[in-house]
Amino acid sequence: MRFGRKLIHLESVDSTNNYVANMVKDQGLASGTVIMADDQFAGKGQREAEWLSTAGMNLTLSIYIDDVNLSVDRQFKITQLVALGIHEFLSKNGINSRIKWPNDSMVDGVKIGGILIENHLSGKQIKSSIIGIGLNVNQLDFGDLAATSMSKLTNKSYLLNELYFSLIYTMNAVWERFWSDPSLDRVYLNALFRVNEKANYSDKHGDFIGEICGISPEGKIKIRKSEGVLEYSLKEVKFC
Ligand code: BTN
Repeated sequence: MRFGRKLIHLESVDSTNNYVANMVKDQGLASGTVIMADDQFAGKGQREAEWLSTAGMNLTLSIYIDDVNLSVDRQFKITQLVALGIHEFLSKNGINSRIKWPNDSMVDGVKIGGILIENHLSGKQIKSSIIGIGLNVNQLDFGDLAATSMSKLTNKSYLLNELYFSLIYTMNAVWERFWSDPSLDRVYLNALFRVNEKANYSDKHGDFIGEICGISPEGKIKIRKSEGVLEYSLKEVKFC
């Protein structure tokens, strides 16, 4: 078992990712430890955004691993495995999600969860990773935010502790299954939101219609346009 060898459950913290980083710095942390919080008062999202989650309603956790043997140019593999783990977990719970590249979990075009991975490098190798996961579970009201939750989709209410164990179990299983399996790229691609569908995007040249058709080894998205296939990194393309 890679993830969940130890669980530290906190009532309230700024951000579980920050908590892990501080623990690693101050006293060290065993690989596989998970920090889970009932409440995050300064949860971090992608691109410096906030991650908002009503206290006690959702899963907000971070996993620390320091035994990943991966070179920096393949760091996208961690994103793929974690995103697929959540996808598989939701599927086991009867929810058909898609991964919005690179790592948002979406259902019917609305976000249900997100991942924030912070890697610590040593030369060209990944020394350790903090894998932060936020998954909307029992929250029903998101105000103006375009978001959904497991409860909204299934009309059930969930025991967060039970879900935690089942999520960690699935994450471990997906990691073991795909770590050395070359089909990982294909399976990830097939789980993507808008894969092989004509849709609207914009890049520095303006709006265009394109079709997601692949992912490069570094994790760039490949979009087929009328003039050929282009590769984009995160800041270079917008989903419209
Ligand atoms: C996103 O913007 O999609 C990423 C969201 C990641 C949120 C999780 S919640 C647990 C962990 N701690 C944080 O501060 N952020 C991540």
